[in-house]
Amino acid sequence: MVRKLSLPDSAAIATGDGRRLAPSAERNAEAILAVLRRIVPPSGRVLEIASGTGQHIARFAAAFPALDWQPSDANPEALVSIRAWVAAAGLANLRPPLMLDAGAPGWTAGPGGYALVQVVNLLHLISAAEAAAVLSGIAGALAPDGTALIYGPFRRDGLLTSEGDARFDASLRAQDAAIGYKDDGWVVTQAAALGLVLAERIEMPANNLAFVLRAGAG
Ligand SMILES: C[S@@+](CC[C@H](N)C(=O)[O-])C[C@H]1O[C@@H](n2cnc3c(N)ncnc32)[C@H](O)[C@@H]1O
Repeated sequence: MVRKLSLPDSAAIATGDGRRLAPSAERNAEAILAVLRRIVPPSGRVLEIASGTGQHIARFAAAFPALDWQPSDANPEALVSIRAWVAAAGLANLRPPLMLDAGAPGWTAGPGGYALVQVVNLLHLISAAEAAAVLSGIAGALAPDGTALIYGPFRRDGLLTSEGDARFDASLRAQDAAIGYKDDGWVVTQAAALGLVLAERIEMPANNLAFVLRAGAG
């Protein structure tokens, strides 16, 4: 299920060729890339959940040519932009997007066995049940020794730790009482129950967090 949400700072610019460009995604790309440089496997397939405009995965696929990148999203409008980014990139290692509702229980994506599954800025926009389905689907989509990267804004020990986060979380809950920031501990506990062990919890710019989770580490 995709909600039509009004999000501050998320307006995407149309480029004229179908690609949309979100300034917010442009701002965090370099910091996420720095994490990826440390954690990506040398080869294998990568699934991105909720690829949005597609600008992130186009950049990441160019940065890691030995990996095969699979974008996806649940919103047909996002798929149009992702397709345009894929076409413009002209990269052999960047696939056309999959339609994927990662909040639907029991989802699968393509052949599975992904070396890396990443999701950026989704979990606060969906309900806890949908976020649990995202994590469960990631666990099922990963290769036995795969890695997951989860990035976004989170509560820390149940608390919203900046005024901006409190405002954003309140604006999300005002639009849908079921959504809003998830707790960092909740993510780690849910993941552990699925066999995904926390390898790193990284403080990111703008009070975001990145979780690096490993399958088969337990
Ligand atoms: C804030 S955007 C983030 C996009 C991109 N990851 C980024 O950081 O630029 C959230 C994205 O999640 C997608 N989305 C919302 N619900 C979803 C779901 N249940 N499954 C997959 N994608 C979903 C939206 O269509 C949107 O593209």
